[in-house]
Amino acid sequence: MKKKYLIFSIVTMMCCSVAHFKLMAAVQVAGLVCEYLDNPVGIGAGQPRLSWQLSAASSDENVMQAAYEIRVAGSVSDLSKKSRLIWDSGKVDSDRSVDVVYGGPALKSMQRVYWQVRVWDNRNKLSSWSEPAFWETGILDPGMWKASWISSLETDTAWSKPCPYFRKEFPVRKTVKSARVYVTSRGLYELFLNGEKVSQDLFTPGWTSYNKRIQYQTYDVTGMLRSQNCLGAILGDGWFRGNIGWAGQHNYYGDQLAFLAQLVITYSDGSTEIIATGKDWKSKTGAILESDIYNGETYDARMEMPGWNKTGFDDSNWANVKEVSFPVNILVAPQGVPVRAVQEIKPVKLLVTPKGEKVFDMGQNMVGWIRLKVQGKKGDRVVLKFAEVLDKEGNFYTANLRSAKATDTYILKGDGEEVYEPHFTFHGFRFVELDEFPGTPDLNAVTGIVIHSDMEQTGTFACSDSLVTRLQHNIQWGQRGNFLDVPTDCPQRDERLGWTGDAQVFSMTAAYNFDVAPFYTKWLKDVAADQLPDGRVPHVIPDVLKKSGGSTAWADVCIIVPWTMYLSYGDKRILEEQYPSMKAWVEYMKGRAGDDNLWTGDDHFGDWLAFASTRSDYTGATTEKDLIATAYYCYSTTLLGKIAGIIGNKADAEQYSALAGKIKKAFNAEFVTPNGRLVSHTQTAYALALSFNLLPDELIPKAAGYLANDVKSFGHLTTGFVGTPLLCKTLSDHGYADLAFMLLMRKAYPSWLYPVTQGATTIWERWDGQKPDGSFQDVGMNSFNHYAYGAIGEWLYTYVAGINIDPANPGYKHILLSPHEGGGLTYVNAEFLSMYGPIRSDWKQEGNEFIYDVVIPANTTATVSLPGADAGSVMVNAAALTGKMKETARPYDGGIKVDLGSGKYQFRYPVSGKK
Ligand code: BGC
Repeated sequence: MKKKYLIFSIVTMMCCSVAHFKLMAAVQVAGLVCEYLDNPVGIGAGQPRLSWQLSAASSDENVMQAAYEIRVAGSVSDLSKKSRLIWDSGKVDSDRSVDVVYGGPALKSMQRVYWQVRVWDNRNKLSSWSEPAFWETGILDPGMWKASWISSLETDTAWSKPCPYFRKEFPVRKTVKSARVYVTSRGLYELFLNGEKVSQDLFTPGWTSYNKRIQYQTYDVTGMLRSQNCLGAILGDGWFRGNIGWAGQHNYYGDQLAFLAQLVITYSDGSTEIIATGKDWKSKTGAILESDIYNGETYDARMEMPGWNKTGFDDSNWANVKEVSFPVNILVAPQGVPVRAVQEIKPVKLLVTPKGEKVFDMGQNMVGWIRLKVQGKKGDRVVLKFAEVLDKEGNFYTANLRSAKATDTYILKGDGEEVYEPHFTFHGFRFVELDEFPGTPDLNAVTGIVIHSDMEQTGTFACSDSLVTRLQHNIQWGQRGNFLDVPTDCPQRDERLGWTGDAQVFSMTAAYNFDVAPFYTKWLKDVAADQLPDGRVPHVIPDVLKKSGGSTAWADVCIIVPWTMYLSYGDKRILEEQYPSMKAWVEYMKGRAGDDNLWTGDDHFGDWLAFASTRSDYTGATTEKDLIATAYYCYSTTLLGKIAGIIGNKADAEQYSALAGKIKKAFNAEFVTPNGRLVSHTQTAYALALSFNLLPDELIPKAAGYLANDVKSFGHLTTGFVGTPLLCKTLSDHGYADLAFMLLMRKAYPSWLYPVTQGATTIWERWDGQKPDGSFQDVGMNSFNHYAYGAIGEWLYTYVAGINIDPANPGYKHILLSPHEGGGLTYVNAEFLSMYGPIRSDWKQEGNEFIYDVVIPANTTATVSLPGADAGSVMVNAAALTGKMKETARPYDGGIKVDLGSGKYQFRYPVSGKK
């Protein structure tokens, strides 16, 4: 999404005099995106969706779009020539500015089109045409692949051999108009043209279900061509052939790396030429002796081949390559965002541990690698090891990485200052041990390179409590480190897999923090691709655990994540495209449940890592798996019924809502006593039953009371992966916000803030990953960067800051703003960059006043709840309520609600009487 423009305009306008903008300048259009992406090149969608934002002066209130017109042409200059347009939507009376489907003629492969839009606002003022934007199609017809897959000649069947390099020189004899390279690999690739990297994208072609879908990338290389040229590539094992999973598995997708590239040059005389991979390429291994995601890289700089990717290099001792017959009809254009190096971090200190290890502290548990600067003799070595934590004595601790060696070794060429970064590996770490190093290192020797899928940050949350603000920081860093092309459980040990349960529980928090629409769109395609014929969703996606799947709350990812995307971005197409996958999963559950509509007897992960106790009378918290399974069966079936209705499938809507009704009945008969007590008397069980709306109305207060009593009697949460995301929300929805805030503010184990008090900079997998005495949880499962418990972020945004989606008008077309005080917080500042522009919700308590500042983007409306206010005493922008706001002011639960349109508002009212 391209939201930065609007932030800029709002900030600029806030600095200007308000009176000036009362003149109501015509609205402007900006932030044009296609398929959520900014000027994408090489997309696969035949009918892409176009979105834009209205930029109105911040003091200009109630701005809506009344109509729009889009025009599309083959060049910027043609946009203004009516006769040369590819498509003109004409004036369309609509307030839709998100996901408007391109309605012109089908586009060809490799076609670039330019588009712009203008709008009429609700005062019938016409904007000027927006700045042009573009999109370009990729290879839409597999028949257009002229390149052949190539592989190096040696029998290339073991993993972690030295990485193969490939090269080919070619001349360009005419004037180039444009040039695109379409490129992919089995394994990972780095591509060079004339010695330069073709793009900053990392870990290309990305991780998909390689047997069914492999992405190719498209790069515009027009400006990189000369009269003599050289294309070069290096391949790494990556997820394709490297170590994957904890059982020593490798070569999962195949035992042979292969490369495929097709450079299409269009000359100014209209002719085209294709330079493609084939028999005429050459190959050799070089300095990368070993490169594995879990184990790290060994690089011998003495074996570098200077100039290998430039023209004029002598490749007479390079071998020929062989053409291999892998399919091209599984190649797909990317839908997500590439992984990139997004930030650099300098170490905060260099320490020597009691054992004498030299260790850099990066100050942040991060994911990526180290850029090393070193000087020494030829053959000297630097060995870098990576760890998330130090043990209780302060020594370097790597036992929790299990079998992942996470070691980068650099062998010097002895040539002045040498700078090195690894190629096809990443590590999850805060501490870096210099196991070997020539000379005495200083802080300049290492720089942390932070990598992740290049998602735009959309959410910010800060408050008066520094620990809670830090918790938010940790949640966002957990997401950064684990959104690396697929949503992983953890980034450091021999796992790093797309665990579906973790992704499911965290998806709404993720969608507040960052723009995850393209990221999940891509991953959900693999969820569907790897789904088993009987409808089970594998435990990890892409599935490398050999088709085990179907665990409740994990497999439900196939319904809950598309639903979250629909709510967060208003994306209906994702519901349509994923519908068969969702339905297959519900049908599977239906088959397992049978006629009694109870899903019992199957094996599941359950409330993973819930609170356990060593007390001999065991006051832990185990929630029966049959209860969880039936609760999720009901919830997913309810969602499926709703989704069917939204996409216009009436028959399924009726069928699945009727089925959900039956499951609910069965759930109550089996798991709920007539007094509203659940057979598993746990926080997770009550959170599921209440938040999934499984109980009859009369039992809701009773069940909520049981939940509240359980929280009070423990004095802390007892939930695992399943219950944690729902707990505070359930309490606050049912009148126990004080308990929810108690849980949030608690600093002792188990709680969200306990790790923060221990200096955590990311979210831990276990509530007590490191205990107060410095000892560790079970080494077999103790990640310090596992985002699942970070799902509390959703409650911080929605309840504490009060930024909520209206499911009837999703994607923030109508916003529900409803802030809440509690936990002793005196202010909260939150912002969310929606598809329409920034939404702000800042509240503070000042003296005896509650002050609430909001920003509502143009082309949206909002309902604002003012807790503890009454219509007579509320001032808005320093005046009493008037107009629509006054008309719509209505009481709710000790406060008032008002409806309002876009703009920037400050509400102030006396605190007394407020909850
Ligand atoms: C992963 C989890 C995952 C779980 C399945 C673990 O190894 O790290 O996050 O959800 O297995 O129960």
